[in-house]
Amino acid sequence: MLRTYDRIGADYRQTRKEDPRLASLIARALEGARSVVNVGAGTGSYEPRDRFVVAVEPSDVMLRQRPPQAAPAVQAIAERLPFRNDAFDAAMAVLTIHHWNDQDAGLWELNRVAVERIVLLTWDPSHHGFWLVNDYFPEFLEADRKRLPPIERLLNAVTDGRVITVPIPHDCVDGFLGAYWRRPEAYLNANVRSGISSFATCTNLSPLQRLADDLESGEWQRRYGELLEEEALDIGYRLVVGRPANNS
Ligand SMILES: C[S@@+](CC[C@H](N)C(=O)[O-])C[C@H]1O[C@@H](n2cnc3c(N)ncnc32)[C@H](O)[C@@H]1O
Repeated sequence: MLRTYDRIGADYRQTRKEDPRLASLIARALEGARSVVNVGAGTGSYEPRDRFVVAVEPSDVMLRQRPPQAAPAVQAIAERLPFRNDAFDAAMAVLTIHHWNDQDAGLWELNRVAVERIVLLTWDPSHHGFWLVNDYFPEFLEADRKRLPPIERLLNAVTDGRVITVPIPHDCVDGFLGAYWRRPEAYLNANVRSGISSFATCTNLSPLQRLADDLESGEWQRRYGELLEEEALDIGYRLVVGRPANNS
């Protein structure tokens, strides 16, 4: 079966690089864990480099883009991790849960293989989003609200879970959907869009013309110009950190 990222992931590494500010939040959440499984690992962003890490990734196209020095990777899915119970101190899953076919099964598996910690970076579907999805692509917001698990559900899947707000820096180098909230012109660039799954699977790109017109006429600046003063913005990204539910 051709997986989504086999279809849309060919240029992933061009635009989806590790952002150092997000990386340090994730590193802090993983502190103390000597072994980590990175599920839905993609090309290896945010994987600790100073301890034992195994990556899990289903897509050939993504696996092939992992740099030679990246952690060893297993081709598998979150829903069926090929590891024994309690095999790792920590399990991490970064911006991947919404791609899993069976999120409950995947969360169960993270709990099964991790002893001490589970670290999830995700987007909160109760958040109002930001100008791109509010005014130009409301269908992205609608789709994400359906496919992203409620934060409550993630908290219920772990023990002593806490939620950390992840403000997105204005110059975020990891080009996910919300990364360019202060760089609106970026969304007009096809290379930028190719690293964003909502765009890569979108069939009606006509709102981009409206965005281009609004930037040209000054309408965008009139409506959102005050954002240009902000260094970082909370647009709904959240880190959920907890202990595995079966190891409480
Ligand atoms: C947006 S990418 C994130 C990759 C990486 N974690 C990062 O932060 O760059 C989502 C990844 O989830 C993977 N994925 C999709 N379905 C999956 C599943 N059922 N189990 C594990 N990973 C999956 C995709 O192949 C893709 O590499």
